[in-house]
Amino acid sequence: VNIGVFDSGLGGLTVLRSLVARQCFQTIIYYGDTARVPYGSKDRDTVVRYALEALSFFANHQIDMLVVACNTVSVVALEVMHKVADYPVVGVVEPGVHSLVNAVPDRQSRVLVIGTRSTIHSGQYQRSLQSMGYQSVDACAAPLLVSLVEEGIHEGPVMDAVLDHYFAHQEKPDAVILGCTHFPMIAAALRRYWGDVVLVHSGEAIVEWLDSRGYLGQTTPSCQVEFFASENTPRVRQIGEAFLADVSDTQDAVKKEIKGVGKE
Ligand code: DGL
Repeated sequence: VNIGVFDSGLGGLTVLRSLVARQCFQTIIYYGDTARVPYGSKDRDTVVRYALEALSFFANHQIDMLVVACNTVSVVALEVMHKVADYPVVGVVEPGVHSLVNAVPDRQSRVLVIGTRSTIHSGQYQRSLQSMGYQSVDACAAPLLVSLVEEGIHEGPVMDAVLDHYFAHQEKPDAVILGCTHFPMIAAALRRYWGDVVLVHSGEAIVEWLDSRGYLGQTTPSCQVEFFASENTPRVRQIGEAFLADVSDTQDAVKKEIKGVGKE
């Protein structure tokens, strides 16, 4: 099975990592729209247009399925992408809710959803969780965290100040939905900030979800990952390689082939 993974920038690498670790895809094509990140504070119509342009990018590749490794695009553009694509397009919001239910079944648990402005303002996570019986659901848009991750800042005084800026007045949650695929990269900082808390990760969530729906076939011995970006491909390649290094060490032959848009 060959799949595409799409994000506005580097955040989707967290989902890519989970998919590579699952070892059942022959080829994974990663596309990060680094020239236009962040998406999370942009107009709906703009994000829909970018999402459709991403589909045009994937039209040049043979993919059997597209994983939208971006909560913002999943919230805003999944429906229209479904209509246009002739392969399954799966987003991360529904899997995230399922994963939370599995990890924290107690409906009295205090759940906090964090993500971009678009994701939080759409209310999709909040509505879904409330319809599943969760009584205490809070949500907080934390867009600066995306910029910190894109900048390679995962901890330190700037990170601490931004965490305080957003969460100082928040009661300590039992579980946090990382409703932005950039956020698993700062999981350590979030754990230090909140202490003992369950973090729900879009990458792990989508693997569980694909598995439960029979999308994942047999294990394959090797997986080829190709990186593409709309800007600064060498940086995406470097970060992507570093990020996958310990996953690939555990596999026989993960071959990473790095290419840039327009340089095929
Ligand atoms: N990684 C993205 C998400 O999951 C989007 C971040 C952004 O582009 O603002 O929402």
